[in-house]
Amino acid sequence: MTTTLPARPAFGSLLSPTSAAVIAATAGVVAEHSEEITARFYPRMFAERPELLRVFNLANQATGEQSRALAASVVAYAVQLIDPAAPSFSHVMMRIAHKHVSLGIRPEQYTIVGQHLLAAVADVLGDAVTPAVADAWSEVYWLFATQLIAEEARLYARAGVDPATPTRPFRVVRRIEETDDVVSLVLEPADDAPVPGIEPGQYVSLFVDLPGGDRQPRQYTVSSTAVGTRLQVTVRKVRGAHGAPDGRVSSFLHDEVAVGHLVDVSAPAGDLVVPSSDSPLLLATAGAGITTVLPIVEHIARTQPQRPVIVAHADRTSKDHALRETVLHAGRQLDDFTRYTWYETVDVDDHRSRTGFMDLSEIPLPAGLHVFTCGPLPFMRQVRTALLARRVPAEHIRYEVFGPDLWAAAPPSS
Ligand SMILES: Cc1cc2nc3c(=O)[nH]c(=O)nc-3n(C[C@H](O)[C@H](O)[C@H](O)COP(=O)(O)OP(=O)(O)OC[C@H]3O[C@@H](n4cnc5c(N)ncnc54)[C@H](O)[C@@H]3O)c2cc1C
Ligand code: HEM
Repeated sequence: MTTTLPARPAFGSLLSPTSAAVIAATAGVVAEHSEEITARFYPRMFAERPELLRVFNLANQATGEQSRALAASVVAYAVQLIDPAAPSFSHVMMRIAHKHVSLGIRPEQYTIVGQHLLAAVADVLGDAVTPAVADAWSEVYWLFATQLIAEEARLYARAGVDPATPTRPFRVVRRIEETDDVVSLVLEPADDAPVPGIEPGQYVSLFVDLPGGDRQPRQYTVSSTAVGTRLQVTVRKVRGAHGAPDGRVSSFLHDEVAVGHLVDVSAPAGDLVVPSSDSPLLLATAGAGITTVLPIVEHIARTQPQRPVIVAHADRTSKDHALRETVLHAGRQLDDFTRYTWYETVDVDDHRSRTGFMDLSEIPLPAGLHVFTCGPLPFMRQVRTALLARRVPAEHIRYEVFGPDLWAAAPPSS
């Protein structure tokens, strides 16, 4: 096996010193083969536990995104155990725990995942996996698992959710056709309990039974918290590009789900929440990322109407720009609200919007700015780069990814 990391003593670390030395010696080769390992892990696990196909996102399996996210997170976790200079891992941990809680992941399932993941390591690395190597990686896995299980237990307890029944039935009471591709579904609890408390920016997992028998969950940001007895999600229909199929759940919600339909909805999850300081806030979004903007602006209008808010949004055209008027309406309740839009194609009579991609180098930014960004990864990378160049500190920039987070596990260095 190749050694790419110095064997630092894990003094004060969670890992035993023997395992720390083995991990330092093998992290490089595991990282090199990590996607091969996770690509082998999932089919193994699904063959033995086919019921898990109803919890995992099958498109993320098909595209390999979940494999990459899992592999990157395990390697990043191992590295930060042995490298005191590694960046803090807590935000990755929290993101995973929130996602797991929205899906009802239970402690006993960690044994299944651990068994198949460690077996996949042995499959791929063969003879290099001596008993000492197997033990060290098992220790890493269980340290990671134990921390996740503890965090998830805390989140379940706080939300009053039993992970054995992580969803509640909600009835669609209204559909709002926002654009050709975007629909808002307004949902009311179909049991006797009230709508749970929702922090602006949080999401829920919707579980739907698709034609053909598959059951699939997807996450949707709660796009408005204006009506306390209701919960709204806003869904962009995903069109398949280059021969890929159309999005299964978003198409189903668009085409099949009418008023009266019941859907299973998880408790709210997600740690992208607005810090309650007075600092000015920039919300920089593209496409479906707009769904995070409305609940934040509504929340600030209710709680801190004097707080300066800048909304910057990029979309293909004004016709694709969902929730535009609703955000503007909520923004009018603020003392200091500024809005910028960029469209790839601007209407001839639209003199306010800018043409092309978002360019944050050209707008005034107040001191002490905090930023939330949500949109495709390349977009968020550009936003981050532009803001760092404008001297916004990296720790003031937070983001939400509408898919497995391939950014958190390998944060950009710029
Ligand atoms: C925290 C979070 C919040 C979110 N909030 C929102 C929101 O507010 N609004 C919103 O609209 N979305 C949101 N999303 C995204 C949402 O969860 C779904 O991912 C989205 O609706 C697509 O799901 P789908 O089932 O329609 O598409 P899927 O069926 O999951 O397909 C997704 C992509 O994979 C491709 N694909 C599928 N199978 C294959 C294959 N075999 N080969 C190649 N490509 C394939 C599809 O073409 C498509 O491009 C959020 C996601 C997260 C994680
Ligand atoms: C230490 C063990 C585990 C690690 C390191 C881990 C890691 C991850 C990561 C990195 C993600 C992607 C999060 C995101 O950015 O959205 C994720 C999602 C997920 N995890 Fe885990 N996980 C572990 C255990 C489990 C277990 C025990 C289960 C239950 C079977 C599970 C089921 C899922 C599911 C269903 C998703 C969402 C997948 C998707 O949407 O494609 N995980 N996990």
